[in-house]
Amino acid sequence: MSQSHQQQELPSHLAIIMDGNGRWATQRGMRRQEGHRQGVETLRQSVKDVMQAGIKCLTLFSFSSENWNRPKAEVNFLMSLLQRFIESDLADLHGQNVRVRMLGRRQDLSPKIIKLIERAESLTADNTSLQLQVAFNYGAREEIADAASRLARRAVAGTLDPASITPEVFGSELLTAGLPDPDLIIRTSGEYRISNFLLWQSAYAEFFFTETLWPDFTADDLAEALSAYAQRDRRFGGLSNQKEREH
Ligand code: FPP
Repeated sequence: MSQSHQQQELPSHLAIIMDGNGRWATQRGMRRQEGHRQGVETLRQSVKDVMQAGIKCLTLFSFSSENWNRPKAEVNFLMSLLQRFIESDLADLHGQNVRVRMLGRRQDLSPKIIKLIERAESLTADNTSLQLQVAFNYGAREEIADAASRLARRAVAGTLDPASITPEVFGSELLTAGLPDPDLIIRTSGEYRISNFLLWQSAYAEFFFTETLWPDFTADDLAEALSAYAQRDRRFGGLSNQKEREH
């Protein structure tokens, strides 16, 4: 990562929709699984690149609630990749002072994977160099509906005044409670969609879309996205700095 990136405006929270593994493999005459396997290699390297760039919070979308609709063999393979990823990389991530968390409905996962996730989360709970969220079996609408349901139950029980439900209160019920909203969301592989990812949290996020397929995503692609981000004029509904200065 070049020196200049340490001086430019960085996202506090970067989120990535890692797309294109299947196409990467198909283009090479390989099975889709090979694309996912390569995707994990890219994920591993990207975590290092993101830390190197000085970013403190990273969320990776690796399995959506809708991905259960894929062939069973592919779903099983993705599950086994998650399991192997935790088994092989947890010690290293912990050594790098990374806090690992999983975002998503874990009750649908196997007891073995749930246990591994819990172990990863408790082992790294006090780590501070990078907050790494792996969104797995994640769907933003489900996350929002679950939060609404919990708040409604409290209101019915009389422990919560419905009038006190502000965006802040609602946000603190989401799986991302305590994390900053994503400032930048990157999606690879030339798809221009959000696909049920961080819908609430991305209200003011900047988006960067690249044609690069996830397995081909490198530090240079990251640098390009960060440099585009640094040039964006983020107004959050207000006026740009330039316009504010004029008045
Ligand atoms: C999108 O490619 C990618 C996924 C659905 C899974 C992303 C998963 C990884 C990077 C590896 C898994 C990592 C962990 C930690 C479990 P796609 O299959 O939708 O590609 P396509 O659009 O080209 O078919």
